[in-house]
Amino acid sequence: MLYDVRIVLCGQVRSGLEDWLKSLTEFSSVPYCTGHESGGVLLATVTAPSPISLRSQVKAAFFLVFFAMTIFAAYEKNSRIFDPTSPIAQHYAPAKWFLPVHALCGILAMTVPALQFSNRLRARYLKWHRALGYVYVTSVSIAAPFAILVSVKISRTFTMVAANCIQSFCWLATTAIALYCIRKGNVIQHRRWMIRSYPFAMVFTLTRMVQVFVPFTRGGHPGNEALFWSCILLAAFLPNVFIEWPVIFSRKTMRAATSDQ
Ligand code: HEM
Repeated sequence: MLYDVRIVLCGQVRSGLEDWLKSLTEFSSVPYCTGHESGGVLLATVTAPSPISLRSQVKAAFFLVFFAMTIFAAYEKNSRIFDPTSPIAQHYAPAKWFLPVHALCGILAMTVPALQFSNRLRARYLKWHRALGYVYVTSVSIAAPFAILVSVKISRTFTMVAANCIQSFCWLATTAIALYCIRKGNVIQHRRWMIRSYPFAMVFTLTRMVQVFVPFTRGGHPGNEALFWSCILLAAFLPNVFIEWPVIFSRKTMRAATSDQ
């Protein structure tokens, strides 16, 4: 495996740090940045391994399964959407102008990251990565405010509108921070904030999947709001576990830290 690790350290360089970075990036595609340590800043850029790695295959399988779930859950709920007499078409009727804009931009924002998270594609086609990145940012910037309009028009309760507002705000904010980071040249934080942004789109699939199997959580039932709030909380929390996982569980990290004392 080939790694190109660039370390810029102003301050004390600690022994075993390079090993630690390598083990960290082998474990996860998220390069780790210690931020400011002893007045120093650490930057690490890791290029993708050349052969198709197990990690790439796992990522591809993940997105395939995830998209299959999305299509299944969306079909289950909306199969009769084009029949104006159906309950689902009538449910959407008050938002019939806002919903298509929201849905199209939402679908775009959900599909584009499947290519963006690929280390291989990013390394080979940086221009495409940049262009698709702007497609993602634009889609989120349209889908999120339109989600609020849709929600105001058709949600049955105020707490559902509040949940949709919070989800939209977090989706916009994490995306904006990711954009800000990359505009400043901070690749590491850009990736980390993109990983925080995408789960707010994944809430779409998760909520509808649960609704397929747990009728108590469908619209009009008391469990509906609990489901949405729970999924939004998970979308905010789980990416942090994912990002920090290698640091928390790396044995080398612990060894390096204890040998330092
Ligand atoms: C901040 C994120 C999002 C919010 C707050 C949001 C909000 C909403 C709301 C309130 C509805 C109406 C649901 C109902 O009352 O039945 C809706 C429908 C819809 N949204 Fe979103 N949405 C978000 C993200 C997405 C994403 C990422 C997609 C991409 C697949 C998407 C696609 C759709 C579609 C296709 C519908 C109509 C069909 C359905 O509800 O299953 N949305 N959205």
